[in-house]
Amino acid sequence: MIIPKYSKKEIAHLQEAVHEKILGSWSCNADLDKEVKIFTAGEGCWLYDIHGRKILDTFSSLITTAVGHGRIEIGEAMLVQMKSLEFFPIYHDGFTVPQIKLAEKLAEIAPGDLEVTCFVNSGSEANEFAIKMARQYFWQTGQPNRTKVIARRGSYHGTTIGTTAVTGFATLRTVSTPVPGCLFAPQVKCSQCEFGLKYPSCKLCCLKGLEKLIQSEGPDTIAAIIMDPLPGSDSGYPLAPKEYIQGVRRLCDKYGILLIFDEVQTGFGKTGYWFACEYYGVVPDFLVASKAITSGYQPLGAVITKKRIADVFKQGPGSEFRSGSTYGGHTLACVAALKNLEIFEREHLVEHARDLGKYITKRFKELKKYSIVDTISGLGTLWAIELKSDKPIGIRIHDCCGEIPESARRCAECAGSIGAWIRNWCWENGMILRNNGNMLVIAPALVMTYEKFDMVMDFLHQGIQAAMKHFKIK
Ligand SMILES: Cc1ncc(COP(=O)(O)O)c(C=O)c1O
Repeated sequence: MIIPKYSKKEIAHLQEAVHEKILGSWSCNADLDKEVKIFTAGEGCWLYDIHGRKILDTFSSLITTAVGHGRIEIGEAMLVQMKSLEFFPIYHDGFTVPQIKLAEKLAEIAPGDLEVTCFVNSGSEANEFAIKMARQYFWQTGQPNRTKVIARRGSYHGTTIGTTAVTGFATLRTVSTPVPGCLFAPQVKCSQCEFGLKYPSCKLCCLKGLEKLIQSEGPDTIAAIIMDPLPGSDSGYPLAPKEYIQGVRRLCDKYGILLIFDEVQTGFGKTGYWFACEYYGVVPDFLVASKAITSGYQPLGAVITKKRIADVFKQGPGSEFRSGSTYGGHTLACVAALKNLEIFEREHLVEHARDLGKYITKRFKELKKYSIVDTISGLGTLWAIELKSDKPIGIRIHDCCGEIPESARRCAECAGSIGAWIRNWCWENGMILRNNGNMLVIAPALVMTYEKFDMVMDFLHQGIQAAMKHFKIK
């Protein structure tokens, strides 16, 4: 690994250039004002910043780098491909060999009869395509009125206008154009049940709510239900009862609705299964994947569907699926994905994630002794620790959050929250910890070892203790 060196002058220039020349993604102005973080090198679960500091990454670079940083063999595979042909688009009637091989590989690892892939560039685009495919499917099979999409409160599906419209955080939708026909069912987070009930005595009120929504809207107006079988880092990885997800599948079958599972975050081993839907024993009609499909070495998204659905778009002239993007399924991205999945299998990373998940479950129980630790939820390597305190802890809603409390949760800063304080403490001491207000997120690369996870635990113990001391919490 090469760790590039920069002088103080160069660092100052680069940091200034961030302020002047980049409009960041999901930026927090308060944090940017405090420190612009620039990363220069990485190996496994470690990152190096521009000052040469070595930092443990517990958020796997936005939940992408499943095989860890610095896998030269992925770059070498791309170089080999470049020596013959760097790129030809999936366009009209043209393909390249890596695109075909990756589609075959995905058909092999995807559950059930999911076997036909449409390639795009990102998770948002893949969700958008799944929704478009569902709508066109009904348009072409004699049910053109089936256009509505049901999503859930508290689930994130992407950043395009279409996927923002089905994202269940109202504050994210305020500045985008409303899209008609997007409906929201209850969030399924048993620790904060929308109906104030407890599982199992609730008798799955949330599932009944979903069915009521379908019935009141008219089942023959609904094209698809989109959901993340394990809602992501924004939602605290609430693990739904298996019978809820199985019940959703049954409702889709009963009312002829197509089921989209957004596995952008949960796909590729992170839950201890290739895909989270396997934990529930449910096969969706569209499985949406991205992020760890290439472990972040290239951008790529995929919608994997069933032959009976794809066949509707292969019935001669005029039936084709009317979408596509120039770089969707870029040849080099497919090579990166193939090599990435080869590493997964060679190093048994899915099995390791399942075992590590058991270890994490056990070790996280230790955190329950702290009065500020509330719910801990997750599966495999995807975890959230929610903090509570009945003491005022000086939460100051920052300018970028406005006055709306819910939007405060959206801002990584929320300066003054215990979560932000612990995140900052961890950063200063050498660990990247993602926080979402008072929710701490731990979602390491699948290559994290037990020893490294012990280091994460040391950070968490020390960070929580330091925060309790700082905020004078017993
Ligand atoms: C569950 C889920 N869906 C969709 C997306 C959007 O993916 P992308 O950022 O690649 O567009 C994300 C990104 O974090 C996600 O976590």
